[in-house]
Amino acid sequence: MTKKRILSVVGARPNFMKIAPILLELDRRYGHFDSKLVHTGQHYDQAMSDVFFHELGMKQPDYNLGVGSASHALQTAEIMKRFEEVCRLEKPDLVVVGGDVNSTLACSLTAVKMLIPVAHVEAGLRSFDRTMPEEINRLVTDSISDLLFTTEISGNCHLKAEGIPQEKIHLVGNTMIDSLVRFSAELSRNGGRPRVNALADAGFYLATIHRPANVDEPEQLAKVLDILLSASDGLPVLFVAHPRTRERLRQFGRDERFVEIQGEIGEVRRGLVYLLPPLSYLDFLYTMSRATAVLTDSGGIQEETTFLGIPCLTLRENTERPITVEVGSNEIVGLDRKRILACLRSISAGRWKKTAVPPLWDGKAAGRIVDILESW
Ligand code: UD1
Repeated sequence: MTKKRILSVVGARPNFMKIAPILLELDRRYGHFDSKLVHTGQHYDQAMSDVFFHELGMKQPDYNLGVGSASHALQTAEIMKRFEEVCRLEKPDLVVVGGDVNSTLACSLTAVKMLIPVAHVEAGLRSFDRTMPEEINRLVTDSISDLLFTTEISGNCHLKAEGIPQEKIHLVGNTMIDSLVRFSAELSRNGGRPRVNALADAGFYLATIHRPANVDEPEQLAKVLDILLSASDGLPVLFVAHPRTRERLRQFGRDERFVEIQGEIGEVRRGLVYLLPPLSYLDFLYTMSRATAVLTDSGGIQEETTFLGIPCLTLRENTERPITVEVGSNEIVGLDRKRILACLRSISAGRWKKTAVPPLWDGKAAGRIVDILESW
């Protein structure tokens, strides 16, 4: 039997935990698949990339394209140019891309132009906000993919409405949750991170904000910072800052109630926001699983908090992951300070909505995907 040659792509931080379970499953079925991994190098820092490979037990990439940061056009073009070379050498039967980052768009576009089929993991999500670069990446990738693996039923509905043939679409669940399930024993281990446990006893909010719409304009960033400071009057805020956010804080300035933490978190006080560098995958999950509430503009964190049952406030006007609001712990609050503070009061008073885990978010999505690849 000839093995199917699968080339999987990762590029940016949110790709790693989504693709890792698929790589493990492909390797487990090595009799059927010859699996290789390409890292575009869109994210390249130790804290944004290497630590994830290590913690998720991912094999080293067979190719690292080393593209680094640049404008959208340059970054996308450079990935396409370098990925085309890899496809020419490897002649894969299928390229697997995940999520909605520039690497996803660039590699799917390169592959289809070389008549190589593409599988998109996390297909069909729509915010209907075309000012978001991710929405453009999702629309283009879905429209040219041959296999579309969705995480929630809204994805199937959108793809159908866009005219994608039914036989290409498969509701498989969420591979990001596969990774979370895999490490759940570690998360529930008491004493895992004593300092975080001590903070959790008194309560704290965890914040991550990095979307261009929230941090690239001084007025928007000022609103975000004001919200975090107001929240900190209730409970201390741990603000894990993405490099983009960190750079904007340096450019636009911030007041002295934002306190830098480099190493271990020491005593924390209300009225202050503690700025942390990017955390590793497991450190972040552990901290999130102990938080009183999470304030974020990330996509994946809306899903992880839903799975963990941690209240989540999404500081955006929309979400491409509506199931996290419908059955999960998420609420879309924009930058409405009054509303956010009211939500935080409800959470502290134990009056948050009852939540559930969405269908098929059971840790077995990668298995379903690889079953389909086997028979495809
Ligand atoms: C990208 C994704 C976004 C995702 C986010 C998660 C796109 C369009 N956006 O946004 O969907 O939510 O990743 O992190 O693909 N930088 C570093 N070190 C790194 C990588 C980036 O310092 O390892 C800095 C650089 O200054 C760079 C900036 O972060 O210019 C932005 O990086 P980029 O990859 O362009 O986009 P993200 O904002 O990370």
